[in-house]
Amino acid sequence: MTFRWKDQKTPLLCLAPMEGYTDSAYRQIIKEVEPKVICFTEFTSADGLKFGNRKSFKRIEFKPEIERPLIAQIFGSDPAVMAESAKILEDMGVDGIDINMGCPSGKIIATCRGSALFEEPELAFKIVDATQQATSLDVSVKMRIGFGKFDLPTLLNFTKNLESSGAKHIALHGRTTKQKYTGMSDWEPIYEVKKQAGVPITGNGDILTVENVQQKIGNLDGVMIGRGTYGNPWIMKEVQAYFDGKEYKGPTTLEEKLPTILRQAKLACEFKGEKKGIIEMRKHLSNYIHGFKNASKYRFRLVRVNTLNEIEEIFNEIINSTN
Ligand SMILES: Cc1cc2nc3c(=O)[nH]c(=O)nc-3n(C[C@H](O)[C@H](O)[C@H](O)COP(=O)(O)O)c2cc1C
Repeated sequence: MTFRWKDQKTPLLCLAPMEGYTDSAYRQIIKEVEPKVICFTEFTSADGLKFGNRKSFKRIEFKPEIERPLIAQIFGSDPAVMAESAKILEDMGVDGIDINMGCPSGKIIATCRGSALFEEPELAFKIVDATQQATSLDVSVKMRIGFGKFDLPTLLNFTKNLESSGAKHIALHGRTTKQKYTGMSDWEPIYEVKKQAGVPITGNGDILTVENVQQKIGNLDGVMIGRGTYGNPWIMKEVQAYFDGKEYKGPTTLEEKLPTILRQAKLACEFKGEKKGIIEMRKHLSNYIHGFKNASKYRFRLVRVNTLNEIEEIFNEIINSTN
């Protein structure tokens, strides 16, 4: 059945797109822990897809039987290229196309991509329109609440026009581009966008616990969680349990967490080959031991591992030392 944002059961629970993190192995772990999550890929270049760049395609590879519904995120500034890449992605079997209008990186905004599109509204609307016309999949937008100085009427006008250009869902991160990742995400403007919206609105920024979700969801259709999943995919199950009126508390000991950690490492190796898979896994390993006794001592070793066996050995050592 075709994925449609408006038909999804609310509250929505989304995994935020995170470059360098939310690859197929990461998403599969999230889905194994909580199947109801809607996953977004890392952003990938529309130009890269158009010109057959191997890296751009690699970012979209996925296991359909586990990862659906999967939303592929693209960035770019040329409506025709965005449209073309949407068609390519539809052929690859993804379930939705998301347009990145939130990336604050200098390299991206210098060429009018990512969050720079907030400053070029007419181009932003053309991109949404062209992309939505090119595909039968739903097109959505992920953005920030502003670029420089926050201004509510500008935000409301921008999101309203995204919607009339064809956007079927908007995820809002409660920071401006200038803020990058400093300060705290401000959810008040997101509630204001929701009051006038005809499409689902998902709030994003600084959710680390179920309590944060309880405090922040307000009138919104859902939440999107990024860094809160670092070393803690179980947050997704905890939040979904809360949405379903139940209670769930994720594992607290490394012994309980170890099978998931090893599974993620194995998937990363399957997906990228052992050498690259392990290198990319190092940061996740270090996130999994965050807050544990002697974490810094073990982190030193974990960021240098080269094999799956080494990972298992070090974790068993940590577990034995704490028993
Ligand atoms: C390492 C990293 C990579 C990110 N990559 C992307 C990306 O590819 N596309 C995107 O729209 N946002 C990206 N973001 C922003 C996140 O999707 C999210 O909006 C932000 O981290 C705030 O949510 P959080 O507090 O739940 O992490 C990235 C954030 C981080 C920390």
